[in-house]
Amino acid sequence: MKINRYLAGCGLDSRRKCEEIVEQGRVKLNGKPVTKLATEVDENDVVTVDGKVVTLAKAVTLMLHKPKGYICSNSDEKGRKTVFDLLDGRYKSKRLFCVGRLDYNTEGLLLLTSDGTLANMLTHPSKEIKKTYIAKIERPLSTQEMQSFSKGVLLDGVRTGKCEIHYIGQENDIHKYEVTISEGRNRQVRRMFESFGREVVFLKRTAVGELRLGGLGRGEYRELREYEKEYLEKIK
Ligand code: URA
Repeated sequence: MKINRYLAGCGLDSRRKCEEIVEQGRVKLNGKPVTKLATEVDENDVVTVDGKVVTLAKAVTLMLHKPKGYICSNSDEKGRKTVFDLLDGRYKSKRLFCVGRLDYNTEGLLLLTSDGTLANMLTHPSKEIKKTYIAKIERPLSTQEMQSFSKGVLLDGVRTGKCEIHYIGQENDIHKYEVTISEGRNRQVRRMFESFGREVVFLKRTAVGELRLGGLGRGEYRELREYEKEYLEKIK
């Protein structure tokens, strides 16, 4: 991998800042100074910064059950709580970032990772990773509306891709749907329902690809299990 990516992977700083560290002549590769950003490094090389050996940090990926009322960002100018406020000190220092976003009012499965390649892969449109949601609305869709929904709807003049929608049932006056989309446009599920004149009163993401939220409680998080990591490695 490129030297700046390696240094970022060691937890030094962002890739951009690591480029500056290289250009400042502070990095040696197997004892020799390097300033070229194109320099390739692998795990058998010895890399030092300011004379200290740096090694690749093991990537961490967490599954979090984001509660409603938290934003997916490192900080918020409006002072709202962020998903990082939910983490304990062990993970706060790990330079994790959100894989995609859930909006302020949406809850459910959110991945946080220190692995930039994984985050890019999972959010890249070409990968078409499926995301499944439970959405609740007050007035049910007709069969015809459900068919149109599944064929894609126009949002800002661009049609969404095909998706799956299943009616789950009714609780009091609230109708529950399971929706699976393969894109990640801003507030996509809410806006798809809005295009049929329905306001989503509850939205929860229950799965990303084959990863499932399962019994993880609101605000709880855990590291991925071995089989989950293997699944992600396979599709990476
Ligand atoms: N769709 C939405 O409307 N909100 C989200 O947070 C994710 C998908």
